[in-house]
Amino acid sequence: MPANVLRVGTAGLRLTLRQCRPEDVAVLERHFPTGRNRYHEARYQRQRAGSSTFLIACLDAVPVGSGEVMWQGAKDPDVRDRFPGCPEINGLAVLAERRSQGVGSAIIRAAEHLAARRGRHRIGMGVEEQNVRAARLYLRLGYRDTGCRYLDRYQYVDDHDVRHEIADACRFLVKTISALPG
Ligand SMILES: CC(C)(COP(=O)(O)OP(=O)(O)OC[C@H]1O[C@@H](n2cnc3c(N)ncnc32)[C@H](O)[C@@H]1OP(=O)(O)O)[C@@H](O)C(=O)NCCC(=O)NCCS
Repeated sequence: MPANVLRVGTAGLRLTLRQCRPEDVAVLERHFPTGRNRYHEARYQRQRAGSSTFLIACLDAVPVGSGEVMWQGAKDPDVRDRFPGCPEINGLAVLAERRSQGVGSAIIRAAEHLAARRGRHRIGMGVEEQNVRAARLYLRLGYRDTGCRYLDRYQYVDDHDVRHEIADACRFLVKTISALPG
């Protein structure tokens, strides 16, 4: 098995989790269109530069979810300063028709294992204040609310070429991973 392939068994599903390859970018774009924003390409380029790992989950070779582990810390500078050396799982998303089947949990577990292998003792992720379901999942997986609140600021260009500035109110969750099994 190539070194960048992780097999993660989940109840009822066998997923392949691996790092994004160059040829995956166009496939991801087909399944999770980001238009002119080219988010998948940007994530792949950050992985190439060594600052992140862009994990994709495939079912029968079809990408069904992805997430990026930012090794230099949280994307938000204030959060990064507050949690130095704490990698962040960013941009976690699962195809709508594949949700609630364990794919998101598998990506999170894969990210935690990679972090543990790198000797990191904790890993974090931001979740929108309104995203109650996602937060409930993360808390159940062992993440704790740090009390850190911040605005996740980003821009995107819509199909009419209009640029939007977004500031989502988020909370930052952290999990201690030093005691992960194997
Ligand atoms: C949040 C998100 C990434 C979670 O991914 P997911 O694949 O749906 O997550 P999981 O399947 O691992 O767990 C979610 C739920 O499925 C349940 N579940 C997990 N494995 C299951 C299985 N084999 N069979 C049935 N249900 C299962 C979990 O208990 C959980 O229950 P809940 O509905 O009470 O929350 C996904 O829903 C998503 O992409 N949402 C939209 C984008 C988003 O909100 N991203 C998060 C940004 S922080």
